[in-house]
Amino acid sequence: MAPILEVADLKKRAQSRVPKMFFDYADSGSWTESTYQANESDFSQIILRQRVAVDMTNRSLATTMIGQDVTMPLALSPVGFCGMQWADGEILAAQAAEEIGVPFTLSTMSICSIEDVAENTNKPFWFQLYVMRDKEFVGNLIDRAKAAGCSALVVTLDLQILGQRHKDLRNGLSAPPKFTPKHMWQIGTCPSWCMAMAKTKRRTFRNIVGHAKGVSNLSSLSAWTAEQFDPTLSWNDIEWIKERWGGPVILKGILDPEDARKAVDTGADAIIVSNHGGRQLDGAPSSIRGLPAIVDAVGDQIEVHVDGGIRSGQDILKALCLGAKGTYVGRPYLYGLGAQGKAGVARMFEILRTELDTTMALCGERRVTDLSRANLFSAFGERLN
Ligand code: GLV
Repeated sequence: MAPILEVADLKKRAQSRVPKMFFDYADSGSWTESTYQANESDFSQIILRQRVAVDMTNRSLATTMIGQDVTMPLALSPVGFCGMQWADGEILAAQAAEEIGVPFTLSTMSICSIEDVAENTNKPFWFQLYVMRDKEFVGNLIDRAKAAGCSALVVTLDLQILGQRHKDLRNGLSAPPKFTPKHMWQIGTCPSWCMAMAKTKRRTFRNIVGHAKGVSNLSSLSAWTAEQFDPTLSWNDIEWIKERWGGPVILKGILDPEDARKAVDTGADAIIVSNHGGRQLDGAPSSIRGLPAIVDAVGDQIEVHVDGGIRSGQDILKALCLGAKGTYVGRPYLYGLGAQGKAGVARMFEILRTELDTTMALCGERRVTDLSRANLFSAFGERLN
């Protein structure tokens, strides 16, 4: 088998092992996918500054995100349907993150529930909250995350209405999958995925089914969002969420400096510069392109994190140089799960850590906390050094 040297190798292997409808769910953006593609490709417009003959011994990637120690500034993004990329995917990814010493964020739209992940990990993880119309259910979700010992609440602000992803509609995506000949064919051609899935009982949205009123069988994200996600969500909602939660809050989905200033006013602990992996507003700028102006606007008042398009340690380093205090990956760990289960997520971490460490050294830096725009030659055509 070909060696796994980079995230693209994990992606290739995942594609051959995960049923098409779930692989496609990960590998898609909304409408024309222009923002999804720009998230990745815009990193190539940031050019690193090479420095030589600098002592490179005793390097460290350790830092903090919202005051919590991390062995490198990288967290796992919340991802819906994660447990359909591989059986018990959320538990496996949380365990791999725990072992390497970085945060795992569980999505509201996960397959494994908050309690499933808590029972199978030893350290606190983060919980991502979608705000729904049923405030009693949202309040209960917050309470469940608190009871499970979650150490941050990540509130997503950019999905009050679902961006259309053509592939999901064409594939008839659902969890569990439907039993049509097309779906059975897709599943039948992935025997190791089937075998793993046959051994778990976690095959639907377990944070929701059995917890939300009137939901005994939820299979489609689009049906649920259309019915349940709150289109009236406003900045005022952050106040009651913060109060009910009582712990660190991270606001996800900020792409504009003006919104970033509003986020600061809520008293949140951090923001994630994000366009939801290019899955919502097609035509929005890439996250990395949105990052510098947001750092300039609020970077001294709130911790700024970024997700979207990060596929390598070089990408992580570029984001840090542009002022992010933390970064996230979503798809890369899904590819790890699909390729090799928990070992694939661990492999992804190893790859990104080595790339980040080596790149940092070749930029002439020894501590990730020392990175700044001074380490960039240029960004988006503007010469910086
Ligand atoms: C849900 O968060 C999605 O983007 O599919």
